[in-house]
Amino acid sequence: MNRLCLLLPLAVGCLPAAAQNRIGTGSVNELYQTYCAACHGENLAGGQGGSLVDDYWKHGSSDAEITRSIAAGFPDLGMVPWQGVLDDNQIRSLVIYIREQGQIAKTKETTAKTQPQGGVFSTTHHNFTLEKITQVEDILWSMEFMPDSSILLAQRDGPLWRHADGVNHLIEGTPEVWQHGQGGLLEVALHPDYANNGWIYLGYSEHTGAQEDGKDAGMTAIVRGRIKDDQWVDQEDIFRVPAEFHLSSGVHYGTRFVFQDGYLFFSIGDRGRMTMAQDVTKPNGKVHRIFDDGRIPPDNPFAEQPGAFPSLWTLGNRNPQGLDIDPATGMLWATEHGPRGGDEVNLIEPGVNYGWPVITYGMNYNGTPITNETARDGLAQPRHYWNPSIAVCGIDFYEGTVFPGWTGDLLVAGLASQELRRLVIHDGQILEDEIILKGQGRVRDVLSGPDGQLYVALNSRDPNFGELYRLNPVPAPQWQSLFDGHSLDGWDVVEGQSTVLVDDGAIVAVHQDASAMTYLVTAETYADFILEVDVKVIGNLNSGILLRGQRNPAIMDGRTHGYQMEIDQSSRQWTGGIYEEGGRGWLYSLEGKAAARDAYRPSEWNHYRIEAIGQTFRTWVNGVPTLHLIDDQTASGLIGFQIHRLTEDLSGGAVYLRNIRILTDQPANHHRSTTLPAEDTREL
Ligand code: HEC
Repeated sequence: MNRLCLLLPLAVGCLPAAAQNRIGTGSVNELYQTYCAACHGENLAGGQGGSLVDDYWKHGSSDAEITRSIAAGFPDLGMVPWQGVLDDNQIRSLVIYIREQGQIAKTKETTAKTQPQGGVFSTTHHNFTLEKITQVEDILWSMEFMPDSSILLAQRDGPLWRHADGVNHLIEGTPEVWQHGQGGLLEVALHPDYANNGWIYLGYSEHTGAQEDGKDAGMTAIVRGRIKDDQWVDQEDIFRVPAEFHLSSGVHYGTRFVFQDGYLFFSIGDRGRMTMAQDVTKPNGKVHRIFDDGRIPPDNPFAEQPGAFPSLWTLGNRNPQGLDIDPATGMLWATEHGPRGGDEVNLIEPGVNYGWPVITYGMNYNGTPITNETARDGLAQPRHYWNPSIAVCGIDFYEGTVFPGWTGDLLVAGLASQELRRLVIHDGQILEDEIILKGQGRVRDVLSGPDGQLYVALNSRDPNFGELYRLNPVPAPQWQSLFDGHSLDGWDVVEGQSTVLVDDGAIVAVHQDASAMTYLVTAETYADFILEVDVKVIGNLNSGILLRGQRNPAIMDGRTHGYQMEIDQSSRQWTGGIYEEGGRGWLYSLEGKAAARDAYRPSEWNHYRIEAIGQTFRTWVNGVPTLHLIDDQTASGLIGFQIHRLTEDLSGGAVYLRNIRILTDQPANHHRSTTLPAEDTREL
C-alpha cells in the first residue's frame, strides 16, 4: 500500500478492487444492475421506469418517500413492490446509491458554475481571487493566527511552523507524533487569553509503547506549551487516555479544539471501531469537555454513569474534524465524516447521543448497508447532511467584514468534493448551503484571519503538499449611469422616425414608424462591459438591446446591425436570447429552455443583466440565467435599443427604459456565474 493509501485509506485507488471507486461500484451497484437497471436504465437515466437522476420525483423526493416507492412499488404502473425481495438494508443502500448518482449527474452543472473566470471566482454575494500565502511539505492539517499576525501551521507528519514575513520558521522541540494512517499533528490552537498566558495547544496522535493484539497502538493526545524564539517550551500534558484505550487502527483520530468559558472542547473519532462510539466507557467516537488546564469538570453529563469516561460531553460521533462556536449564539457546532453518504453537521449539546453507528444516512464504502435506520427516538438528528459525502473537514464561523455577505455564516471544508461551502444558520437550523469554491484542491481547513480575511488550507496530491491561500475580495464595482433621468444626453436616435422622449424618469420609445427600424444608440462605443437596465414593453411589438452594435456606411447602407439581446413580447418568449441583426440570425434562442423562457414578465418592468466580456456573453432576466454564449464576431461597438418598425404582426406600442448602468472597469472581476452550459457559435 502506498503512503497516500495509508494516510487516506478510503481514497480512490486505495480500496480493494471490489470497492475501487467510492461511487458506482460495489455490491449496491450489483444490486441496482440486477433488480432495477432493466427498467430504469444502466445509468439510472430511465427507460420503462423514469429517470432516477433528474431530480424530478413523481412520487415524492424525501428519503422516506423514495424508500416507500421502492418498497411498495407501483404495481398498477408496472413496478413491483420490492419489499420481501430486498431487505430494508438493501433498500436503504439503493436510496443512497440513487442520491449519489443524482449528485454525479448534477456535478457538471456545479463545476461549470464554480469555475473561475480570469482568476475570479463568483458566488451569490461576493467575487474573490485566491492568493497563495505559503506551502508546507505534507498535508496542512490546521492553522492558527498569532496576535502579531504570524500564522502557526500544523503539518500532518509532525512539524509545526510559524509563518511570518513570507518565511516558514520551524518550531523546534514539538512532541513526536505517531504517523499512523490518518494520524499525525492534527490541531493547533491558541488559548483565548494567549496574550497574557502564552499557551498554545497541540492535538496529535501518539504511541507511548501500548500494544493491541500484538500491534502498536496509539491514541489522540493534547498538550500545551509556549513558543520562545521558535522553540517549543514549558510543555504540559492536557489530555491523554490510559494505555488500555490505545488502539491499533489507523483511522478517525479527530481532532479539533474550541475554547469557551474556561473549558476546552475537543473531538476524538471512533478510531474505526464503530460500536465503541456508543460505549460510555470508551473515549473514542465522542466530543469531550475538560478545563483548559486539563482537569475534568465534575458536572460533565455522563459523570453519574458508573464506568463512564469522565471527559465525555456527547456520544455517537463517527469522526468529527470540524468544531467551532457560533459567536452570535455561543452554540457549539461540529462536522463529522460519515461513511459512504451521511457527512453530518451537528449542533453539539451536552449528554446527547448523535447515533453513530445505530443511525446514519450513509452506507459502507463497498455498498453494503451499515443499518437501514436514519432516525430513532433518543438519538439526535444531524442539522444537515451530505449524501454523497463531501468528506467534510474543518469549519469556521466567519467573523470578518471583508466579505460582509458572509459574516456570521459557517464555512465548511470538503476534502473529496474539493469544496468550500457556506452555510447560513438561523435558530439552530441550516437555511442555505452554497458552494463558494470547488475543484482547486482538497479543502482541509478554513479560518477567518484577524485582518477580517478568509484563509483556506488546500491540499494537492502528486506531490502531496499543503498550501495556504487567502481569499481576496475584488474591488467594489464602479458603475456608470447611462441615463440621467431627464434627458437623452449621451444617446442618439437614428434611422427610423419613431418618437423617443423622456417622461417621468424613464426613456419612452413609441413605435410609430412602418417604414424603418428606429434605434436609440450610445454616442460612445464599448468593448467589455456589464450592462444592467430595467425595461418595460407594452403593446404588440418586438424590441431588443443592441450589444457591440455596428453602424458602418460601407455595410448594409449604414444600417444598425450586430448582436441583439431579444426582448420578446410574443408567446414564444425568447427574451434573453441573442439574435444577430443583419447577420447570422439566431445565435442562441430559448427553444426548449423552459426556466429561461419563464423568467420574462410580459408588459411589466423586467430587470436585465448583460455581460459581454471577451468572447463570453451571459444574460439574466429578473435574476434567472437566460444565455451563455461564446462568439467572436465583434469585439466592441454601440449599446442601443431597437424600436421595431410597425408590421402587420407587430402593430405597435411603447418601450420604457430606466436605471441604465454600465460597468466597464474590470468587468471580469464582477462576472456572475451561471448554471447554463456555454454554446459556442464561433464556427457558424
Ligand atoms: C419492471 C420495471 C421496473 C423495475 C424492474 C423497477 N422499476 Fe422502479 N419504476 C418503474 C415504473 C413503471 C415506475 C413508475 C413510473 C411512473 O410513476 O410513471 C417506477 C418508479 C420508481 C420510483 C419512483 C420514481 C419517482 O419519480 O417518484 C423509484 C424511486 C423506483 N422506481 C426505484 C426502483 C428501484 C430502486 C428498482 C430496483 C430495486 C426499481 N425501481 C425497479 C418500473 C420499474
